[in-house]
Amino acid sequence: MRVSARADREELEDLAAGLRRTPREIPAKYFYDELGSQLFERITELPEYYPFRLERSLLAECSDEIVAATRPDVLVEIGSGASTKTRFLLDAMRRAGLLRRYVPVDISSEILERVAAELVAEYPGLEVRGLIEDFVREPGGFPDGGRRLIAFLGGTIGNFREEEAVAFLRGVAAEMGPDDRLLLGTDLIKDVRVLEAAYNDSAGVTAEFNRNMLRVVNARAGGDFDPERFRHRAFYDVERHRIEMRLVSLADQTVRLERLPLELELREGEELRTEFSTKYDRALVADLLSRAGLELEAWMPDPEGLFALSLARRVGAAPGA
Ligand code: AVJ
Repeated sequence: MRVSARADREELEDLAAGLRRTPREIPAKYFYDELGSQLFERITELPEYYPFRLERSLLAECSDEIVAATRPDVLVEIGSGASTKTRFLLDAMRRAGLLRRYVPVDISSEILERVAAELVAEYPGLEVRGLIEDFVREPGGFPDGGRRLIAFLGGTIGNFREEEAVAFLRGVAAEMGPDDRLLLGTDLIKDVRVLEAAYNDSAGVTAEFNRNMLRVVNARAGGDFDPERFRHRAFYDVERHRIEMRLVSLADQTVRLERLPLELELREGEELRTEFSTKYDRALVADLLSRAGLELEAWMPDPEGLFALSLARRVGAAPGA
């Protein structure tokens, strides 16, 4: 599994474009090198970070029902990461006697290779076909055949800007046949204090995750960011119903990125935007899906209404077909 030179170039172009915006931005995919993926796994264990645990209980609770309603023999998972929660779906597919193939799609080849080896050992006979993809740029290229359940979990759809989320889902919809279904995880709008605490944990893991992005940029773009010269900041924007994460420059400083090439003059207090995490409700999810040519078929929130799974089909696909 290799990343092509072209993908590498495009990744640098996305970075350069982001850094020229106001405020300057680093694309969220730069979080996830090996250390970044490990830090994210630690975030999922934090008491304040509820989305992971809620989605996991929802999957534990609803996987059989989801599989009964959609009858998939192929599970495609976009942004699969450590594939921790995936096991609930794979187990339900196995119980139903349907499980044939798993297609994890992720940008971290290290994680993909590890997960593929683990799952092949855990599920005898399972075909695992990992795709190293910057799924943010172009969803798709999923292997054909079978009834596919395409999972996009974790609330990661919220990391896109609104227009990008629609374009992304349109790309997914274009890949879907009438029998395929999308399983989407979304974090929901709730008390601001709960939201802000989830991105400002007291152990400082999210801060470290945020600053680690600068190391990833250094490695990929030949940069000389000093992560210690930046402070983590996360806040909820009520109007746009999204968390924003930023890195605040602690001094006037010049940063060089040799492979772009670009020289950044940052002033003390200047902020780099590193992530959006949009929160939804049922109407917002239904609207987002419909703008992408998809329709909401099932809405599965947790009992407190903090997080939800949704099932969607392509518009025009017959219900229950
Ligand atoms: C990638 C969507 C799962 O937005 O909540 C966690 C990433 N960033 N803490 C999110 C994240 C900071 C996360 N997801």
